[in-house]
Amino acid sequence: MKEFVYQGPDTGPEQGAVHWEAPSNIALVKYWGKHGNQLPMNPSLSFTLDACHTRTRLEFFQSGGSMPVEVLLDGQPAPSFEPKIRQFLERALPFQPFLKGYGFRVHTHNSFPHSSGIASSASGMAALALCLMDLERLFAPGLSAGQFRRKASFLARLGSGSAARSVDGGLVLWGTHPGLEGSSDAYGVPYPEKVHPVFQDYHDTILLVDKGEKAVSSTVGHGLMDGHPFAGARFEQARQNLDRLGPVLAAGDLDGFVDLVESEALTLHAMMLSSSPSFILMKPGTLAILEKLRAFRKTSGHPVCFTLDAGANVHVLYPAASREAVYPFIQEALLEHCHQGHHICDRVGRGARRLAGAGS
Ligand code: PMV
Repeated sequence: MKEFVYQGPDTGPEQGAVHWEAPSNIALVKYWGKHGNQLPMNPSLSFTLDACHTRTRLEFFQSGGSMPVEVLLDGQPAPSFEPKIRQFLERALPFQPFLKGYGFRVHTHNSFPHSSGIASSASGMAALALCLMDLERLFAPGLSAGQFRRKASFLARLGSGSAARSVDGGLVLWGTHPGLEGSSDAYGVPYPEKVHPVFQDYHDTILLVDKGEKAVSSTVGHGLMDGHPFAGARFEQARQNLDRLGPVLAAGDLDGFVDLVESEALTLHAMMLSSSPSFILMKPGTLAILEKLRAFRKTSGHPVCFTLDAGANVHVLYPAASREAVYPFIQEALLEHCHQGHHICDRVGRGARRLAGAGS
């Protein structure tokens, strides 16, 4: 991790602001189980999303050493977010010692509703990490674009593991894996193998079945894999699935994609169903959606599939060419299982971007 310790000049701007947008992501091969300092037990691979993102404007001002933090969500003070952001800054500090001299005001906005049950930690931590890297660039302007993005992903990971996959666009790989060049447990990288164009604008319609608080926090969830009787087999399965996905992604093999992606989603839930304590994160509406979706796939022949994160919401994945058949089906048959019909039409996106108007 030495390469990420800042070693440049120690004088920087007195005050200023930086502004970034970072996307959410949905894992195809899931990360569940970690060790050490936010390191994954297995490699994971995700689609970067587009419509679901966080915009963060970070104001910084020299403050004499105590790192005061104030957080505003949609312009309103949000003190409940401050401990998590302070913890993130403490974790970044060994790699960016210059942070110590500053105070921060964090203005943040999520494109998706805060109470939607969609985790904002990946996009939120990535947006903040990119802001911190922009501040670093004001100290040491020589960073290459690659170094900038790699360290941003590295810092984002310290805030939330899956945030490491919310910097780059397309398909993002996080976790060392033999044969996948450049892969690292420390940060996410663009998936380095051939990807068929069908996956470049894949659609993800997110069905908001339950908008409540997560029943199991990430910290508790990952902890459930410590001593889990199936943990070793699961981590090995994830590695094998990543290998099996390679030719599927290269060839545009949509049947192979459906099989692997659904199996990964169900295995994630199977791990929670069989852990101690155990958690049932699907709701009746989740199961109804999965059953209807499989029946639709069978009768229509469209290669539509689902994936899940650690909750009741369903991500419906399909190629752009199937949109005209799949979206009406979603509207007619699936939205009745969503909280007030709520859903988000998303698709694969191009990754984080710097926004104008930072005023620095
Ligand atoms: O980034 P975390 O610690 O909140 O973990 C997220 C884990 C899953 O979303 C369930 C799976 C994944 O790979 O994103």
